[in-house]
Amino acid sequence: YNVPKAVNEPVKSYAPGTPERDAVLATFKELYNANVDVPLYIGGEEIRTGNTKNLTPPFDHKHIVGQYHQAEKEHIEKAISTALEAKKKWAALSWEHRASIFLKAADLLAGPYRAKINAATMIAQAKTVHQAEIDSACELIDFLRFNVQFMTQVYAEQPISSEGVWNRVEHRPLEGFVYAITPFNFTAIAGNLPASPALMGNVVVWKPSATQIYSANVIVEVFKEAGLPAGVINVVYGNSSMISDTLLASPDFAGIHFTGSTGVFNDMWAKIGQNISKYKTYPRIVGETGGKDFVVAHPSAIPAQVATALSRGAFEYQGQKCSAASRAYLPKSTWSQVKELLVADIASMKMGSPEDPSNFVSAVISESSFDKLAGFIDQAKKDNDAEIIAGGNYDKSVGYFIEPTVIVTTNPKYTTMETELFGPVLTIYVYEDAKWEETLALVDSTSEYALTGAIFSQDRYAIEQATKALENAAGNFYINDKPTGAVVGQQPFGGARASGTNDKAGSVLNLMRWVSPRTIKETF
Ligand code: ALA
Repeated sequence: YNVPKAVNEPVKSYAPGTPERDAVLATFKELYNANVDVPLYIGGEEIRTGNTKNLTPPFDHKHIVGQYHQAEKEHIEKAISTALEAKKKWAALSWEHRASIFLKAADLLAGPYRAKINAATMIAQAKTVHQAEIDSACELIDFLRFNVQFMTQVYAEQPISSEGVWNRVEHRPLEGFVYAITPFNFTAIAGNLPASPALMGNVVVWKPSATQIYSANVIVEVFKEAGLPAGVINVVYGNSSMISDTLLASPDFAGIHFTGSTGVFNDMWAKIGQNISKYKTYPRIVGETGGKDFVVAHPSAIPAQVATALSRGAFEYQGQKCSAASRAYLPKSTWSQVKELLVADIASMKMGSPEDPSNFVSAVISESSFDKLAGFIDQAKKDNDAEIIAGGNYDKSVGYFIEPTVIVTTNPKYTTMETELFGPVLTIYVYEDAKWEETLALVDSTSEYALTGAIFSQDRYAIEQATKALENAAGNFYINDKPTGAVVGQQPFGGARASGTNDKAGSVLNLMRWVSPRTIKETF
């Protein structure tokens, strides 16, 4: 298969005086007061229901940047019928033409839309420009380009034949439509979840997170400009239960591509179970859910490496990456060195609006997230087995700001060692050096999740021990690196246990889930 060889999109620096910095800040200003009206997008039509909700940036929640229209049940039904109608032509279109559309979308994001998608992500999701760049520009572009390469690997998978017999496999799209439910925390994931099934010839109904709609709307614009035919990806906003209930009750529901919380994914799975006898085909269930990602350091680890991994892994994007370091196990012998470096690093982190690129952190996504995090911080202030050594302050008067916070606990099963918080709160347990092996067992047994994790050590035997002991504790396992920042094509991403179905976003495995192969044997 002749397709352009996928390479990772280079990350731009946004240093003072660079053209990309000037462009993104100018676009930020422009979008901030544009008062965008976001319609549903069904069958290529923009639908304005009049039932609207405001869009407000998390770092300035009294400011309205636009509004979005919410769907009624009839719109969801229309999205299904329109998608199924569009499928007749889309599924029959040769793969080169589908690929071409998504490659063009990647080029648009890399060039003319780069400032817009980044600025929209900064505004909607309170990402700094550097975090927006690695997500909404580079990772999304990478997903789109690498998927085309992975698609050819799926199609290349063919059986053997013999004289007089020609065996072949057709990798057809699923029979029905795919439902994509996407999270706020990565614009790249939001774009990839509808795009990857669509690339394989499927039609999609896409429900973005309510807190990502502003940047989702830019993705819609890009797909449209890239030439995606009407009805292939239909975008709906509104009441989540109504939308899911309607889509999952359809006999034509053929698969779900989900990233979000474990609780919501479990609800989806249960609803699919209740409806199972209605479906024409067994649906594909692909989901990436929560995480309680660990960093464990051996006494041989380099303290400065551990401290940097913690401050970046735990606090970039306010700890709202599913991969964020949120529990750490550090040896007593090097603890004071790590602590000093970590506390100093956190003290230098500026917090504020993403409009100022020197801010390292911004607000958390919503008031409910803020309240939940503030509750855990308050509890830690009261508990005897917990101590806050950095941060601990919060203020929601202008935006949902929570200082990067470090809790040190003497209880390895302390609530914030176990519970997914999804915010800028790191909990550390300091272990006796002699208890290295017990500590590994603790890391494995403390959380129901298994998304990412990191081991720091200069001792090869300890690295091997940890790699084996934590075999099932993380789908993405890092040796001497922070547990965030997986790159498409380099570290296929996803976890098992309560973290999801581990169908690795941006991989051949993921694309295989969006085809229903037919084997043909022809005898001459
Ligand atoms: N690629 C993102 C990370 O690994 C999900 O942090």
